Amino acid sequence: MAELGGATFVETFGHLYPPEDLQNFLKNSHSVEAWSRTLADPQRAIWVVEHRNGRKIGFLVVGACKLPVEQLEATAGEIQQLYVLSEFHNLKLGGQLMSLGLDWLASQGRAPLYIGVWSENYGAQRFYGRYGFNKCGEYGFKVGKTIDREFILKR
Ligand SMILES: CC(C)(COP(=O)(O)OP(=O)(O)OC[C@H]1O[C@@H](n2cnc3c(N)ncnc32)[C@H](O)[C@@H]1OP(=O)(O)O)[C@@H](O)C(=O)NCCC(=O)NCCS
Repeated sequence: MAELGGATFVETFGHLYPPEDLQNFLKNSHSVEAWSRTLADPQRAIWVVEHRNGRKIGFLVVGACKLPVEQLEATAGEIQQLYVLSEFHNLKLGGQLMSLGLDWLASQGRAPLYIGVWSENYGAQRFYGRYGFNKCGEYGFKVGKTIDREFILKR
């Protein structure tokens, strides 16, 4: 997961940050230790897409909402990470992961649902829009010393 999480993040957002910021972020967020904590968290669920050749090519993490939302509802859920390697985009893998995640969140009584998405990630915003997510706020997402403008979407 550390390898796949790091690879998909670099592929999608690596060009946005100075190398040092990117390395720090990967060390904190996509290390084996960080992923071990994520996988052990009973409030989260994770799905991994595996190619028939065994290669892991995409994943979804959902759970309780950890975004900085004002007056956050106690039962709020979040689509926390959704990534598919770019060579496998537009094959509906993301769509299948979303269906699984939304069903699981509903089964846990998680509502409403939130997603944080980079303000210039138009493809992902279109994707989430089709699932009924709309912008309800913004926040700054820290990657090293860089702070990105992120939209918060709600459904
Ligand atoms: C968003 C993502 C998971 C969708 O997975 P997918 O398997 O390609 O999705 P589907 O085939 O079910 O749906 C295709 C839709 O995905 C979105 N999409 C496609 N390529 C994308 C890309 N490079 N970046 C963001 N979204 C993309 C588009 O909305 C596309 O539909 P449209 O262009 O016809 O409007 C996938 O594109 C991805 O991993 N992107 C890079 C990482 C990312 O941006 N994750 C979201 C972070 S909040």
